[in-house]
Amino acid sequence: MDAIYPYAIFLHNLMRWLVLIFLGIALLRAVPGWLGDRQWRPGDDAAGKRLTMATDLQLLLGLLLAGVSPLVRVAMQDMGAAMKDPSLRYWSVEHTALMLLAVILIHIGRARSRRPVADRVKHRRAAVYFGLALLAILAAMPWQWLAANGRPLIPELPF
Ligand code: HEM
Repeated sequence: MDAIYPYAIFLHNLMRWLVLIFLGIALLRAVPGWLGDRQWRPGDDAAGKRLTMATDLQLLLGLLLAGVSPLVRVAMQDMGAAMKDPSLRYWSVEHTALMLLAVILIHIGRARSRRPVADRVKHRRAAVYFGLALLAILAAMPWQWLAANGRPLIPELPF
């Protein structure tokens, strides 16, 4: 299982850009759609679908990482001690919990914007839930410039 780790890290790192791009596209459709009272089009639904699929893939990679990451393994051996270690706490709780929240918000946003309601309400729901998800993702991202937990913006090849 340890051999999987560098590949999972590589893919999980790269996939974040796909999630951010699809989230940006969905928001750029939803916010003006809401404020401009635009009709809900098939492209709006497709943007939500693409975003949900990419996010689910990222979630799967994250769950895989939670199983093979040496950092999470150490944290799980003694959660009490891990909570006192900023780096172990970040990976085992903060990153994971906030990202899970973002995944849930994206799913709720997509589901609620597909209900049979006025087009303006569909756009508004997508805008609000996807916007909140973006905030959670930006807050939980291990940006390169974060001292202890920063990770490269573009990962190195694992082979
Ligand atoms: C949209 C959601 C997510 C984004 C954008 C994201 C982003 C990232 C990034 C950029 C890294 C650093 C990769 C590297 O070291 O090169 C990372 C690491 C990690 N993520 Fe996520 N993540 C997300 C969701 C999740 C979820 C839901 C989980 C757990 C269920 C998770 C668990 C982890 C773990 C365990 C690590 C590796 C820690 C280590 O061993 O270095 N992530 N994530």
